[in-house]
Amino acid sequence: MSDQVRIIEVGPRDGLQNEKTPISVADRVAFIEALVAAGCPVVEVGSFVSPKAVPQMAGSDEVLRAVDHHPGREFHVLVPNEKGYDAAIAAGARVVAVFASASEGFSRANINCTIAESIERFRPVLARAKADGIKVRGYVSCVLGCPYDGDVKPAAVASVAKTLWEQGCYEISLGDTIGVGTPARARALLRTVATEVPAERLAMHFHDTYGQALANIYAGLEEGVRVIDSAAGGLGGCPYAPGATGNVATEDVVYMLEGMGLGTGIDMAGLLAATNTVSGLIGRPPVSRVAAALNAKAKATARA
Ligand code: HMG
Ligand code: MG
Repeated sequence: MSDQVRIIEVGPRDGLQNEKTPISVADRVAFIEALVAAGCPVVEVGSFVSPKAVPQMAGSDEVLRAVDHHPGREFHVLVPNEKGYDAAIAAGARVVAVFASASEGFSRANINCTIAESIERFRPVLARAKADGIKVRGYVSCVLGCPYDGDVKPAAVASVAKTLWEQGCYEISLGDTIGVGTPARARALLRTVATEVPAERLAMHFHDTYGQALANIYAGLEEGVRVIDSAAGGLGGCPYAPGATGNVATEDVVYMLEGMGLGTGIDMAGLLAATNTVSGLIGRPPVSRVAAALNAKAKATARA
């Protein structure tokens, strides 16, 4: 199994989409550039969704135009339909992500349609992306539980993941949107989905609402999954998943992976600097345990 893990840093999108205080385009760009400077190979930088639905992501076109598209850097954006795809491409997107749900309740709340209708909306996006040479990532939300429908069966997740994979998504990111999973269930889920999509094409997108995300990721690593979505400082949440808190913190993931001898290419000091900057902008300390520990250590050292 590979000793390299690919981190998809979703803080500028999943993190900031749920913040009460809107963050300016200039500050979002500075945050993204700080993450890139810290060695984050992929950063999800925004969403081309209705600004009425998610005002925090307005200006994602300006963000995408402003970031430095140096070779080797990959910037992702969410697109829910062709309108979003058009806008994303016009702003220079090379990788887009479509997002479906494994549960009907969340699909309706989040994107105002059934799962089947969402797949129909993605079909032309995927066809056009193929013709345009654009990579498409596929999200499946509510893989371990839904805030509206409750329990979600692994087979339901596998079915949506299979459809997105067969339609041409290069990778399927499995979202524990409300962070309710535990390791045995995460493992069982990944085993079921891996019967339809190869494990090396799966990503773990685990929110940490119940403090289980790192344990779930550890189980997933044992299953051979090597792509992890995380957010600097543990930012995040979804406006349509009431009560859900942030993504697993990138600092916590990188610290655990380093301890396991797994590489990410991310420099912890640079990452912490990016986190502390955004934390100042939102007016809250990072929820990441590793960031808190390193900040406390730095303070103690400065005092000594
Ligand atoms: P709708 O109301 O069904 O769509 O919304 P519509 O086609 O009827 O359009 C309604 C209005 O939205 C119109 O504007 C459209 O022009 C506009 P109006 O005439 O009222 O002024 N519109 C758009 N504007 C900009 N960009 C677009 C676009 N499409 C339509 N692409 C829609 C459907 C999906 C647009 C809406 O429900 C929406 O924007 N939802 C937001 C969804 C969202 O961003 N959720 C958070 C991200 S998902 C997430 O966080 C989960 C994830 O992290 C994984 C996990 O944790 O599980 C990925
Ligand atoms: Mg999410």
